[in-house]
Amino acid sequence: MLLSHLLWRSGIDNVVIEQRSREYVEARIRAGVIEQGTADLLRSLGLGTRMDDEGFVHEGVTISNSRSPFRVDFRALVGRVVMVYGQTEIQKDLYDSAVSANRPIVFEAEGVQLHDLTTDRPSVGYTVHGERSVVEADFIAGCDGFHGVSRHSIPGDVRREFERLYPFGWMGVLSETPPVSHELIYARHPRGFALCSMRNPMLSRYYVQCTADTDAASWSDDRFWDELRLRIPAEAADSLVTGPSIEKSVTPLRSYVAEPMQWGKLYLAGDAAHIVPPTGAKGLNLAFSDVYYLAEALDERFSSGSTTALDAYGSRALRRVWKAVRFSWWMTTMLHTFPDAGEFEHRLQETELEYLAGSPAAQTAMAENYTGLPF
Ligand code: DHB
Repeated sequence: MLLSHLLWRSGIDNVVIEQRSREYVEARIRAGVIEQGTADLLRSLGLGTRMDDEGFVHEGVTISNSRSPFRVDFRALVGRVVMVYGQTEIQKDLYDSAVSANRPIVFEAEGVQLHDLTTDRPSVGYTVHGERSVVEADFIAGCDGFHGVSRHSIPGDVRREFERLYPFGWMGVLSETPPVSHELIYARHPRGFALCSMRNPMLSRYYVQCTADTDAASWSDDRFWDELRLRIPAEAADSLVTGPSIEKSVTPLRSYVAEPMQWGKLYLAGDAAHIVPPTGAKGLNLAFSDVYYLAEALDERFSSGSTTALDAYGSRALRRVWKAVRFSWWMTTMLHTFPDAGEFEHRLQETELEYLAGSPAAQTAMAENYTGLPF
């Protein structure tokens, strides 16, 4: 939806083909941290009004090791901040803007197939309510997520995959309770990772590390709250306000990159090409930088005829992708309990956290990455 917006702004016709319904997308829970660059981009497009009204600027986070907290002050260290605003809300804002400008979006498109990608007339076929349609195009942006068809249209002998599966998941709970802290708390504990986040003053979002195969329904709310309390700093645990969960789900953790990010007239962006574990909330932010580069390259192609930027799109995007993959892997590795870790790994993990707690240089590197590398 952001790519579509950027292209319309450059006068480039496009149609968005979405597998789900608008209601489904708007009900889907996503992370809540917006990098400074992502927020600035939305503002520059006139899409930041509700974010600035309803979101919260966060100038730092708390990291906790075995219930001992320390703070990383982003504003003081790098002069940059993040915005806490549900990523689903950005999706709503983008839909509102597109619908009010009468821009075409096809919802509930089934059986999506990409054709003729290495010709001058690539096309996308899809079925809505039993009726088959084909859109012929100059270019196709594959923004259809990890489970979409786009990536698989790149031949197997061309595509390389890089993957790390983590031996745990996150159980997330949304509850209509005041957040335990005015900033996020990322907590490492021998029982497993925990994260305290929020959406607004009466809506909290919490996560605890669980086994990857945990069925969310098998945990009672009480069990979730008890586990969270044990893992976060005592002061936070004592003031935690609990209530019924209004959503509870388990997310697996994975790092994944597919290269190249382009093939013929197909350009992949976001989760279609790469997945990061949620620690650090980089997923949507990374999709934003991909489509920002892609929109710039398409703009150059349509305004001057030059394909220089388009040809370089994938390699340019991948340089930033791999940095976010590295950062998300680093946060994940530092903060989770790995079931097969030995004493050597335990000592390294303790040392990593001790170094971060005591070194302004290490905190600066974290702050630079957390608030978002430039794009
Ligand atoms: C949230 C999710 C994350 O993965 C994260 O690192 C921070 C916040 C959230 O859902 O609020």
